[in-house]
Amino acid sequence: MNKVIKPTGKLKGTLNIPGDKSISHRSVMLAGLAGSPVKITNFLPAADCLSTVCCMRSLGVSVQETGETELLVKGNGLYGLKEPVDVLDAGNSGTTIRLLTGVLAGQPFFSVFTGDNSLRRRPMARVITPLTQMGAKIQGRENSRYAPFAIIPAGGIKGIDYVMPMASAQVKSAVLLAGLFADGETTVTEPYLSRDHTERMLSTFGVVINRENLTVRVLPPKELSAPTEIDVPGDISSAAFWLVASTIIPGSKVLLKNVGVNPTRTGIIDVLVSMGANITLSNQRLAGQEPVADIVVEAAELRGTILEAEIIPRLIDEIPVLAVAALFANGQTVIRGAEELRVKESDRLKAITQELSKMGAKIIETPDGLIIDGPQSLKPATCDAHDDHRMAMSLAVAGMAADGVEITGPECVAISYPHFFNEINALSQE
Ligand code: S3P
Repeated sequence: MNKVIKPTGKLKGTLNIPGDKSISHRSVMLAGLAGSPVKITNFLPAADCLSTVCCMRSLGVSVQETGETELLVKGNGLYGLKEPVDVLDAGNSGTTIRLLTGVLAGQPFFSVFTGDNSLRRRPMARVITPLTQMGAKIQGRENSRYAPFAIIPAGGIKGIDYVMPMASAQVKSAVLLAGLFADGETTVTEPYLSRDHTERMLSTFGVVINRENLTVRVLPPKELSAPTEIDVPGDISSAAFWLVASTIIPGSKVLLKNVGVNPTRTGIIDVLVSMGANITLSNQRLAGQEPVADIVVEAAELRGTILEAEIIPRLIDEIPVLAVAALFANGQTVIRGAEELRVKESDRLKAITQELSKMGAKIIETPDGLIIDGPQSLKPATCDAHDDHRMAMSLAVAGMAADGVEITGPECVAISYPHFFNEINALSQE
């Protein structure tokens, strides 16, 4: 059913931000490779992370749901995964398929991965290529460029020094995780720094991992030494919708509690602040090795800005909602070096241009970014989410701040933020 978003007027109140999607995935994967039980709190029980839970169960790991956002994971040790009796289905989740392919590359058993319509269109050669260089045997559709693909026992894999052609935390993580099972050390070098949650969590699990500039090195351990508990910080990519909405809707003031502020993820805060946003961090602390803060955001006038390739990995998932912010800013916003957006859950450069245009927005789509002259006034329209959760939520923010919007295919918000639409009502004063 379509979702009608009405203009909200000013937003006021406090939100607890649900668990970080990237960290939730990694917590279940690493806990599932440990030899002692791990309790995970503030886990994100959204469709993507549940795909990881399902796959880990198929690999012989016990995952008990002990509370609404709490899991108890019992693995069988680093070498304790079992051959799955059926095809592993990663659903819509790029993180599940790419990271677990890294884990499975060096296993002595056969496995097959698939995913939904969107995931089966997304590039997999980016992980299959380096894993093959490590000695893995992987064969998939269209010359091993797409899922479904099969991972065939290869009799062991070796460490490599891999220089990544693109900045991607999923590719980096796949190689590092494969490196846990290799016969020597593995290094990965990326062109720009992407999110480092895998590195931090590997270190929490006692793995020797170190970084020198853009190169990370991992040594294969004998076993993981697991923490008894992992507390997942709130997801800054979910908080981003409220950061933008509260900034552009006059009179708003919202407190976002327990938000992960790992510097590899805070590009959205840096850019909004450089555009004139009023964002204050307090109560800064650590959850394991991940920095966390409470964030107050108040409405402010924005000015346009220029984003270049280097910052893109630090706000890769926030560009659609940043495009909405740019429509409300004074002056021009130029986004460059963001061609990776074309291979996300949808082609996000094309999708955001197409859908916001239905609301009357004038956006220039370039091969690697967007050019937006603001401020612009938007009119109500019916816009499509392109089966992409972040598109649905970005369109909702545009509708809240302007004159409303009707969204087709809104249920995809369940991929990362199942209660997103309820939170609009919680913050809305009307
Ligand atoms: C993620 C990495 C990013 C991001 C995705 C989650 C991760 O993808 O867009 O939502 O958890 O590692 P890429 O590695 O493809 O940039």
